[in-house]
Amino acid sequence: MMKIKKDIPLIDQHDKNYMYGKKFGGNYIPETLKKPIEDLTKLFEKIRYEKKFIKKRDYYFKNYVGAPTPFFKLENLTKYLGGAQIWCKQVSKANGGAHKIYNATVHSLICKRAGKKYIIGDTGAGYAGKMLSMAAKKFGLKCKIFMGTKDIERQSVNCRAIKKNGAEIVPVDSGSKTLVDAVSECMRYWVSNCDTTHMCVGSTVGPNIFIKICAWSTAQISRELMLQVKKEFGKVPKKLKLINCVGGGSSAMGFWNEFMNYDKKQVEFIGVEAGGPKNSKKHAAPLTNGAKIGILHGASQYVIQDSEGQIEETESISAGLDYPGVSPLHCLLKDSKRARYTSATDEEALEAFKLVSKLEKVRPSMEPSHAFAEAIKIAPKLNKNTIIVVDSCGDAKKDIKIINERLGKKL
Ligand SMILES: Cc1ncc(COP(=O)(O)O)c(C=O)c1O
Repeated sequence: MMKIKKDIPLIDQHDKNYMYGKKFGGNYIPETLKKPIEDLTKLFEKIRYEKKFIKKRDYYFKNYVGAPTPFFKLENLTKYLGGAQIWCKQVSKANGGAHKIYNATVHSLICKRAGKKYIIGDTGAGYAGKMLSMAAKKFGLKCKIFMGTKDIERQSVNCRAIKKNGAEIVPVDSGSKTLVDAVSECMRYWVSNCDTTHMCVGSTVGPNIFIKICAWSTAQISRELMLQVKKEFGKVPKKLKLINCVGGGSSAMGFWNEFMNYDKKQVEFIGVEAGGPKNSKKHAAPLTNGAKIGILHGASQYVIQDSEGQIEETESISAGLDYPGVSPLHCLLKDSKRARYTSATDEEALEAFKLVSKLEKVRPSMEPSHAFAEAIKIAPKLNKNTIIVVDSCGDAKKDIKIINERLGKKL
């Protein structure tokens, strides 16, 4: 069985070929990308230890992103379900409404440091694109966002924000017209423009360096949570369950990172993938539904594929989770059994949204509604000494159209 080493950051637990547990990750890239990836790797591995760069990062996390985001008990939901206490880390209160702002801010700082004026990125739910366009505007960079045409249609709220920030949306009409195709197209563009342009990958996926930068950026979430938990309970509780949705996996990695060295009996990590529509064979849950290992976007990982290794189309109510692959870091956490992965269907996510937004002031977007669905399932079976924390990493504003259509009411 794969083992997680204590006291070495998870992102650094790869071998010289950038493979985690000899199976996941790596740099499966065209020859033309070798040099830009090498340059970016050298730059990031230098600046991530520079006091000045860390000071700058923390300055913008506090004064631009709005860290720390709130942490509080969901009193009504806890009472309603009985059993475990349910708490919420409301990351959706970060500037722009989701965790993607951490990665976007760090990439913009790196782009400036590399002396580049152009920045490009992919997006599914539109949040990664919205945040990158915001950060690009803030730091004076010209920005292009690659987005599938199916996602442009269903995430129009975030598309308007991207345009308002002065960025160009490049529609991607190939394949499933979703995130997977947007990432591919963005990488293709970078191959021919890497001299002048920096690329931001919107999750903990892609060639190794992008996984590292993204997880290093979102780790801020668990740095905050650790302090908040200790302040609230005096120490890390004996039974703590951290529940997060998993698409590419950047939100979950950020939410769990600081707790990595705790025994899983004390701090359990639960990742919730998109189970897709009830009774449909389509889903976006490679870790839960026994997907095989394959290569996607430059890295080896569990990926949804047919018997000939062709990447299969996925389906989910949440654009952010609608992705056939998953971060190599999550593959490592799964195979080492440090994290448990499960899925929620579209219908379960909608029900969870309905319940949480009725009882509490929190209105989770469709992605974290998957995480709430799991909390709702397990909380009644546990006692009040168990603390469940759900990362509410996105706000439902972007999903108004889908929610109104599906629930037949005005949000
Ligand atoms: C609000 C929200 N949550 C979760 C995700 C899934 O991505 P990740 O697994 O990288 O956090 C997205 C992606 O767009 C998102 O917008």
